[in-house]
Amino acid sequence: MFLDEVATAGATARRDTMTDVLVIDDERSMCDGCRQTLEAEGLRAVTAPDGPRGVELVERTHPRVIVVDLKMPGMSGMEVLAKVSEIDPTIVSIVITGYASIDSAVESMKIGAFDFLTKPFEPEQLIDSVKRGMELSETRQKARPPARAAPPEAAALDAPQVALRGLEVLGQYYSLGLKRRDFLDELKNLEAESRFHAETLGRIREKEKVVLQVVEDLRVVDEIVTRHEYRKSALLQILLDVQSELNWLPRHALKWVSRRLKVSLASIYTIASFYEALSLEPRGEHLVEICTGTACHVRGAPRLQATASALLGIEPGQTDPDQVFTLKTVHCMGCCALAPVVKIDDRYYSNPSLRELRKVFDSYRQKKEQPCLR
Ligand code: FES
Repeated sequence: MFLDEVATAGATARRDTMTDVLVIDDERSMCDGCRQTLEAEGLRAVTAPDGPRGVELVERTHPRVIVVDLKMPGMSGMEVLAKVSEIDPTIVSIVITGYASIDSAVESMKIGAFDFLTKPFEPEQLIDSVKRGMELSETRQKARPPARAAPPEAAALDAPQVALRGLEVLGQYYSLGLKRRDFLDELKNLEAESRFHAETLGRIREKEKVVLQVVEDLRVVDEIVTRHEYRKSALLQILLDVQSELNWLPRHALKWVSRRLKVSLASIYTIASFYEALSLEPRGEHLVEICTGTACHVRGAPRLQATASALLGIEPGQTDPDQVFTLKTVHCMGCCALAPVVKIDDRYYSNPSLRELRKVFDSYRQKKEQPCLR
């Protein structure tokens, strides 16, 4: 199966096509060679000629393994890796490059690449690496936590029933040999974190909702840490998993990781602030990027930015209080012919009108299929 023409055509692409391997490389001969080698092994392989179309194919064809060139014009292999791990952390990535260096190998591994092949490589090397990658992907899929359960309906309980629950929890605390004062201190700290979180999100009036959200977040962190068997060496992967579940790394989540792994908070912040894939700022579920490159600027990017800000109620660099959208401005996205361009997650929209943009944002809010504008 050969899908890069399909990716180029964009709107006509088949949806939900399952595949085993996606090869992303700007060298056509490399794509063709890899695809033929993999298909001869009975694997379903598709190819993409650049990062953005590769990322689009990841969403549409759900590969188990991606083979990605490190150096490509526009979106680099590193950026592709970061995007793919956000979309589906069970996908295994193999980096290929003709400019091998220790640094690039180390960097690739740091951001989650499973293997690193230097061009030209033998077909057997590719097959071996892909097959091992498929096995790892399967293991990751099995280890994936079940979908997050909705928090219990607090409104269904009245005040005396909640007090009984509290007493029950206090009893459990005593049974661990801990004192009442420790319990109250613990609660006080968690409540202070919830308050801080509410302030960060600008939702100070929704205290009860934010407290429940913090509890849910910390349970998610517990699931992730347990999955990684409390290993300090898995700290980076744990942070990436937390980022993928919560869309960013709130302070209460980092403090909980620090406590669970017994790693200092300072070390966690050092890692969290080093990697671009990790965000210490609130990030919405969807990233809205307005291109302010020269071509987009002269063709109306300031108007597009003002429209997006007005519709979302936020300025570039901000996230809305419901954490659905984060708005950013970026430099040239490499598709100047479409200027002015707005990109939402991995979809590009060319010069949308106010009405069209509102429709698109609504579709994301309501989790509906996004309208095809042009
Ligand atoms: S300037 Fe906006 S895509 Fe190039």
